[in-house]
Amino acid sequence: MMTATVKLVSRVRRLGCVLAFCFLALFLWGLPGARALDNGLAMTPTMGWLHWERFMCNVNCQEEPDSCVSEKLFLQIAEIMASDGWKDVGYEYLCIDDCWMAPERDSEGRLQADPKRFPGGIRRLANYVHSKGLKLGIYADVGNKTCAGFPGSFGYYDIDAKTFADWGVDLLKFDGCYCDSIKHLADGYKHMSLALNRTGRSIVYSCEWPLYMWPIFKPNYTEIREYCNHWRNFADVYDSWQSIRSILDWTTSNQERIVPVAGPGGWNDPDMLVIGNFGLSRDQQITQMALWAIMAAPLLMSNDLRHICPEAKALLQDKDVIAINQDPLGKQGYRLRKEDNFEVWERPLSNLAWAVAMVNLQEIGGPRSYTISVTSLGQGLACNPDCVITQLLPVKRKLGFYEWTSSLKTQVNPTGTVLLRLERAS
Ligand code: GAL
Repeated sequence: MMTATVKLVSRVRRLGCVLAFCFLALFLWGLPGARALDNGLAMTPTMGWLHWERFMCNVNCQEEPDSCVSEKLFLQIAEIMASDGWKDVGYEYLCIDDCWMAPERDSEGRLQADPKRFPGGIRRLANYVHSKGLKLGIYADVGNKTCAGFPGSFGYYDIDAKTFADWGVDLLKFDGCYCDSIKHLADGYKHMSLALNRTGRSIVYSCEWPLYMWPIFKPNYTEIREYCNHWRNFADVYDSWQSIRSILDWTTSNQERIVPVAGPGGWNDPDMLVIGNFGLSRDQQITQMALWAIMAAPLLMSNDLRHICPEAKALLQDKDVIAINQDPLGKQGYRLRKEDNFEVWERPLSNLAWAVAMVNLQEIGGPRSYTISVTSLGQGLACNPDCVITQLLPVKRKLGFYEWTSSLKTQVNPTGTVLLRLERAS
């Protein structure tokens, strides 16, 4: 009798927990995503390479021929993306950022590439990129000038959309500098979206609209999603742990607002991957890769693929982690809890699987252990009644079979992350 009562109480408790998790699920997981930009693109987050963080606005090809923004750089990176396994794991878009333009438009009002640095022009570059099985991205700005001071698209949206389509461009990063009002900003982003659609060419539309709106008022993400394939929310990524942390902190502080809106066709963009550069330790690089996968972020590397160490390359090309990022269910993950300088993040995946990341934010000491009851993962469903857990990062290793009542113990390096995949066992 006694045992039966205990069992009943524990069942009721379990049910209570499951209901509580379901409530949390509705809150964070969101109702079905809002309508996405209707161009059939970015059904999973865009993957590729973007020059900005690593090469910035270096236009000095005389003194720095290998690291200035030039045709040569993009031809070389295209070649490597195709030959060194990058394209094979999904990095497809080779993207030019600011500083590719000549200082003036041509006599017909069209943008033109700087003739010295891009002697073959963008069309020829696009042809080469396409011949490698890749796609080409380009950059422009909704306002009067780009952030680095080159010609802006204000007043020229239709001409610019047509020029990009004529050149064979496949993605446009549209920045928001030098825009004199919030109305111009919103109208400009919408106008360019429609202009790109009217060209009839498939062009991924990458926006910075919410980033420029936040200081003035809260962006309407439902509207932004109707016009953009991805959108930057927060400041530029730098090659530092402080920058990665600030992006993660911003994301967690705003997750109720931004997580539900992401989905196939439209994604939050926490900016480029800086893995393979100078500023992040091995563990911090693992954290960036793991969390960008959990956040369903576009994976746009900004590094020098001509000189990248084997560890960074292996991390960026890790197929299991990429599979989480590219999961077809298209739900963005979120931070589940923070305690004792640990963060636990999780993301629902297709086939009832879950990705879970444990981040050790403590910047002093050595590896710390963290134990979590698997009942609290995946909204109470991930290991119900049981699951098989595989650790993907920092190294791949099968952790085995877990019952609903089991605990999971991990060891996480300072500023590092343990990334796990949980699959239904039965
Ligand atoms: C910034 C943008 C960066 C980069 C830069 C170019 O506003 O956020 O990602 O594009 O402009 O000038």
